[in-house]
Amino acid sequence: MENKEQAIEEEILINFEKKIENGDSIEPKDKMPDGYRKHLIRQISQHAHSEVIGMQPEGNWITRAPTLRAKQILLAKIQDEGGHGLYLYGAAETLGISRSELIEQLHTGKAKYSNIFNYPALTWADIGAIGWLVDGAAIVNQVSLQRTSYGPYSRAMVRICKEESFHQRQGYEIMAKMMAGTKEQQEMAQDAMNRWWWPSLMMFGPHDSSSPNSGNAFKWKIKRHSNDELRHKFIDKTVQQAQVIGLTIPDKDLKWNEKTGHYEHGAINWYEFHKVIAGNGPCNKQRMEHHIKVHNDGKWVREAAEAHRLKKERQN
Ligand code: 3HC
Repeated sequence: MENKEQAIEEEILINFEKKIENGDSIEPKDKMPDGYRKHLIRQISQHAHSEVIGMQPEGNWITRAPTLRAKQILLAKIQDEGGHGLYLYGAAETLGISRSELIEQLHTGKAKYSNIFNYPALTWADIGAIGWLVDGAAIVNQVSLQRTSYGPYSRAMVRICKEESFHQRQGYEIMAKMMAGTKEQQEMAQDAMNRWWWPSLMMFGPHDSSSPNSGNAFKWKIKRHSNDELRHKFIDKTVQQAQVIGLTIPDKDLKWNEKTGHYEHGAINWYEFHKVIAGNGPCNKQRMEHHIKVHNDGKWVREAAEAHRLKKERQN
């Protein structure tokens, strides 16, 4: 009996590897190795958690947006992020995990979310820096993920990338306006740049040499570019955007390398990165407490929706 099962397992693996090799997309109904499924649940759920937690720093500024137009744009962006979270939770659920399990993993710290959302948004310029730098980094990462091997994830990325470009543009517009403004506004924008630049570089993950998941991610074509490749892509385009509006990149070691065609950057503070993703960043506690409170406050909505679904089911 054991040999028969073994033979079936081997056949599943051979078919799966053939599809990956051919560049076919893997769909929920396809048989897949457990490792592939687990890797995707880990990455997609953490991506979804990041989108939803990321609504908090920006949400704090809705009532303090400087104009009605700015408020409308911020509201639209935050609403988009909530939708991105839903697409991604939906994609994760196709792998056989429930929404409640995903949320429980977030609340117990078993699942991570992006380091970047554990920093406070102190001034209006932070909303510009978040849109321009954080969404700018997310776009570089997500454009690459449009070609990920798992179909539902790839299709979610195509949809999300369309909305991210608006997020990045509105952030850059805020920074450009402030840099064309008063001295105080310019100082506020540069201060935000100084606080958000390095955590944005950390968003791409550890250097390739210390990325434990990248090996499988490339073997299974989940990742199509490495952490460092995407980080370089982000730096190269963002440095030029900063120069156009007169912002200074807070990295004294930043220099153009004619040979590689990329900017070289200073050392990233990986001690800070690991401290933040271990739960000891400036806002981790606040972010989680808020998410748990709002999730519990919304319990009655979930129960009502479930009761309605069951009633409809009984009627049919
Ligand atoms: N924040 C928190 N944890 C991070 C991280 C970050 N920026 N970068 C890496 N990590 C974690 C990984 O999750 C992994 O821990 P785990 O094994 O417990 O999950 C560990 O550090 C080692 O990193 P690896 O490079 O080996 O892990 P990955 O191969 O998963 O690569 C990644 C990390 C590049 C972030 C990859 O997971 C990825 O591309 N994820 C999808 C994109 C994403 O999650 N973006 C988050 C921001 S979403 C956003 O900004 C929304 C925008 O609209 C505002």
